[in-house]
Amino acid sequence: MAPLPTAAVSRTLAQAVRRNTSQSAVRALSSTAARSVIASGEASDTYQSPFKGHSAANKIPDFSKYMLPNGASNQMIGYFMVGTLGAISAAGAKSTVQEFLKNMAASADVLAMAKVEVDLAAIPEGKNVIIKWRGKPVFIRHRTAGEIEEANKVNISSLRDPQADEDRVKKPEWLIMLGVCTHLGCVPIGEAGDYGGWFCPCHGSHYDISGRIRKGPAPLNLEIPEYDFPEEDKLVIG
Ligand code: FES
Repeated sequence: MAPLPTAAVSRTLAQAVRRNTSQSAVRALSSTAARSVIASGEASDTYQSPFKGHSAANKIPDFSKYMLPNGASNQMIGYFMVGTLGAISAAGAKSTVQEFLKNMAASADVLAMAKVEVDLAAIPEGKNVIIKWRGKPVFIRHRTAGEIEEANKVNISSLRDPQADEDRVKKPEWLIMLGVCTHLGCVPIGEAGDYGGWFCPCHGSHYDISGRIRKGPAPLNLEIPEYDFPEEDKLVIG
């Protein structure tokens, strides 16, 4: 290849130096303009190009009609958001609590077992009836006048678990007790034992006609459950 003439090489080098110099100048001018805007703290609504002329593309669009008036704030939107979130949270909490209580509530069959209604007219005087309530036997005794008198004449201070007969009944003729021996939980037998009441054959506890422990290992009288007489001949246990 033939060598370039010296004049041509010089011309090419001179053009390259001119091009580089003008690009650096452009960059310097551009950054100087930007710095001067930032330093002055003023944002003009028009971008002033340091280069040739002005055109529509240089103009920043006018957003003033979308802006809030001077001094106004977004408080209403804030209140709305807080109120809405509060309402949603409250509804969620209410639903959770409702579901929890629904699960905790007794079912219909459990409620049915909680109370037992007994027709007292069907129980003759001097007879025992045993019913089942909450899985336990309940003794219902229609006591005679003689049995009531016998229960009342006992010296309370001589009893292992001192309790007057009148404190164990709501109506003297009706004795209602849990049929569970207070020793170890056997079911005593009615109209048996040394005191004319109930006898527990498991370990030999004797209860009198008021269901009070009189002899044997049982420490306490037969327990009295919750009951009521809503009508003359009606008994509700529970
Ligand atoms: S369980 Fe009744 S005497 Fe022991």
